Amino acid sequence: MGMTDDEVRARVASVPHWYHPIEVSPGIITPGANAARAVLEILDLPADCRGMRALDLGTRDGFFAFELERRGAEVTAVDYMAMADSGFAVASELLGSRVTYVRRNLYDLSAADLGTFDIVLFLGLLYHLPDPLGALRVVRNLTRQRMYLETLVLDFGRELDELPLMRFFAGSSWAGDPTNYWGPNVRCVEDMLAETEFATRRATSTGDRCVFDCEAIASPAAAYYMEIATGQRAPEGTGT
Ligand SMILES: C[S@@+](CC[C@H](N)C(=O)[O-])C[C@H]1O[C@@H](n2cnc3c(N)ncnc32)[C@H](O)[C@@H]1O
Repeated sequence: MGMTDDEVRARVASVPHWYHPIEVSPGIITPGANAARAVLEILDLPADCRGMRALDLGTRDGFFAFELERRGAEVTAVDYMAMADSGFAVASELLGSRVTYVRRNLYDLSAADLGTFDIVLFLGLLYHLPDPLGALRVVRNLTRQRMYLETLVLDFGRELDELPLMRFFAGSSWAGDPTNYWGPNVRCVEDMLAETEFATRRATSTGDRCVFDCEAIASPAAAYYMEIATGQRAPEGTGT
């Protein structure tokens, strides 16, 4: 038997802090302040995701994971938080969701473990990661086809737009949040994407945020030097 609206509201109220506004029952939306709906519009995800495997990285309350499930995808959601410490567990229960929740750090994910995905969402996460290129390599290894990146972007001023620049946030110097590490400009994100074997099909800026619609590509030279730099391969030479 289904829950009454009052029972649904009580389950919603049992979560101390909602990040995403999720419609968990007709007309009942969780009180998250995040602009997920506006981001969803810009993402322009395929309307029909049936037959696709999708991955939502840093899922938090799961807004995007549940949306991909609604569109027919088989979805895996990852976060290093326990699902009971965000709104995910309650939203999943109320939606009767079958999204698989994997509690793990992004840097510990591999295709050997999770397989690869037709659609990967990497939203609101890049600037929280101390090694952004390393993170993009992890994401690339999990991506079969499409990857959507949404991030904070900085504007360093007109004459610096063309330079790939990224500002380091020491301590809690950005928004008082010690989990923020890097603020790249749009050009820097595009260049890091190219270096990690992604082609940017579309970049849509909305002031201090930007959505990048990307395609996995093969760029053997970039991959070769990245493997040497990260110690997975030794540089070729004549010495012993
Ligand atoms: C700013 S929220 C973004 C939520 C959602 N993706 C969105 O765009 O609305 C970042 C989420 O990523 C998670 N997160 C941050 N660093 C992570 C890491 N290294 N591995 C896994 N999850 C991480 C946080 O717990 C949080 O839920």
